[in-house]
Amino acid sequence: MKIFLDSANINDIKKFYSMGAISGVTTNPSIISRENRKFEDILNDITLIMVDGPVFAEVLALDADGMIEEGRALAKKSPNIVVKIPAIPEGLKAVKTLAAEGITVCVTVVYSATQAILAANAGASYVAPFVGRLDDIGENGLNLAADIREIFDAQGITTKIIAASVRHPVHVTELARMGVDVATMPGKVIDQMATNPNTQRAVEGFLKDWEKVPK
Ligand code: E4P
Repeated sequence: MKIFLDSANINDIKKFYSMGAISGVTTNPSIISRENRKFEDILNDITLIMVDGPVFAEVLALDADGMIEEGRALAKKSPNIVVKIPAIPEGLKAVKTLAAEGITVCVTVVYSATQAILAANAGASYVAPFVGRLDDIGENGLNLAADIREIFDAQGITTKIIAASVRHPVHVTELARMGVDVATMPGKVIDQMATNPNTQRAVEGFLKDWEKVPK
């Protein structure tokens, strides 16, 4: 399973890219708003770092024509841009048009398996179930990701599943176990995955013992 960073913070992107931890970056309007910089500048910087992986950028319009216009403009910025379109009926219209033009599209804010099926039929390259936000409303986000995986496999659908709104390492393990293609997550979760106090203690113990070796 690939790991993408759900952030527009350039320092975080450089940090996790240099660790070999991430192979793509996802953003949304809320994530962009945290950086207090122009969207165009942020996107430009991200695409300069993430030269060999996808960079996801979301449209703001809620009507199909507006989404198509924004999607075309985003796609022109860099060959690795993936246009994020929300899973609403107008969004599906935009997906059909953009996908037919060869633009890579991710249908985002997916809360049901039926939205994922429609997105795949419209031509989406990715669908993004919001795992953590489903947990937040008392449902089981992992179950949705598993349902979509099962349905796509049963139907031979090649649209990739990118689990979004990933909140902790257990989400990551379970998503990997069920064969989800990608999980996108904040840097905090990658830090939690990469760090184990037992490993740290063991490494420190080795160094301490090494001091006893005659020099
Ligand atoms: C993906 O790009 C989504 O926009 C994102 O994962 C949402 O995550 P959140 O629920 O933590 O805001």
